[in-house]
Amino acid sequence: MATLLPFRALPFRSGSSDTTGDARMPSQTTPQSEKFISIEGIARRYPAPGGTSTTVFENLWLPMRRGEFVCMIGHSGCGKTTVLNILAGLEAPSEGVVIADGQAIEGTSLDRAVIFQGHALLPWRTVLGNVAYAVSSRWRKAPRAEVEARARKAIRTVGLAGSEHKRPSELSGGMKQRVGIARALAIEPKILLMDEPFSALDALTRGTLQDEVRRICVETGQTVFMITHDVDESIYLADRIVLMTNGPQAKVAEIVENPLPKVRDRTQLHHAPGYYALRNHLMDFLVTRSKTLRDAMPAGYDQRHPPVIRPSLSEADTAALLGAEAPALRA
Ligand SMILES: Nc1ncnc2c1ncn2[C@@H]1O[C@H](COP(=O)(O)OP(=O)(O)OP(=O)(O)O)[C@@H](O)[C@H]1O
Ligand SMILES: [Mg+2]
Repeated sequence: MATLLPFRALPFRSGSSDTTGDARMPSQTTPQSEKFISIEGIARRYPAPGGTSTTVFENLWLPMRRGEFVCMIGHSGCGKTTVLNILAGLEAPSEGVVIADGQAIEGTSLDRAVIFQGHALLPWRTVLGNVAYAVSSRWRKAPRAEVEARARKAIRTVGLAGSEHKRPSELSGGMKQRVGIARALAIEPKILLMDEPFSALDALTRGTLQDEVRRICVETGQTVFMITHDVDESIYLADRIVLMTNGPQAKVAEIVENPLPKVRDRTQLHHAPGYYALRNHLMDFLVTRSKTLRDAMPAGYDQRHPPVIRPSLSEADTAALLGAEAPALRA
């Protein structure tokens, strides 16, 4: 489960050097480059009874590109939230380092916004007030009108125009989560971190918000690290899917390249070449391989360079490509 932190604990008060007070509001750049984020050999250990320690994971390596949407999947307790908290700067690794945009992460930063499963809004502020508060924390010297304009734009982007003056108690769960997304996007973070952001929502709202987040991230070239338990969500959203073995001592078993085109239509996903191979690969991992790989990694496995997999066309994909009905659907 994702941690629910009060708004003030979110990284709007920087532990590093991000609150520049610059009144100008820069626009987003979108070039792809290798290793925009680099997780380098991190470990997380907790004290255990008897003076021993439990290792959640160790020697974990993971590079991410600028503009990339990365999803992490793994069973409960394997350390996904711990990785996200380290990326957010909310926790420090026991060993190793994370480099983000050329700088080691030390504490929270306005460059890295977090969207939690719980929305963590300020209940006494309106929708506009919640988002504007984040914007004014980011650009402390920005004129009020500019802050408000930016907040309103973010609110429009997530489809909440008309609800600016409502308080959180007057909003549905999906609307609250939209405010959380608007608040994170409004500060133009270099990195967006999401811990199961849609898991508490009903299926319809979840689908709509997935569509919006995907559209916004593709349009702005946002770099995203997101945790999910939902295989279909990861297929729809991610460029790459990081598969974690079961804990303790979890490992990055594989990094799966999503073969689907960047421009995706949810309703047509299952017709896309590679869809069935990808989905079967992910399901197979969660059902069996996440455990068997924890017990024995294949010969030659290198934690520093986890295998990168691109599931190949299956029989069903070939059928889809040829326009025939997929065997799996005929059964
Ligand atoms: N403060 C803590 N003290 C001791 N152990 C902890 C602490 N925080 C987390 N852990 C342990 O670290 C492991 C990883 O926790 P984490 O929350 O990162 O898992 P997760 O993969 O996000 O799980 P879930 O899918 O249930 O959210 C768990 O076994 C958990 O019990
Ligand atoms: Mg978690």
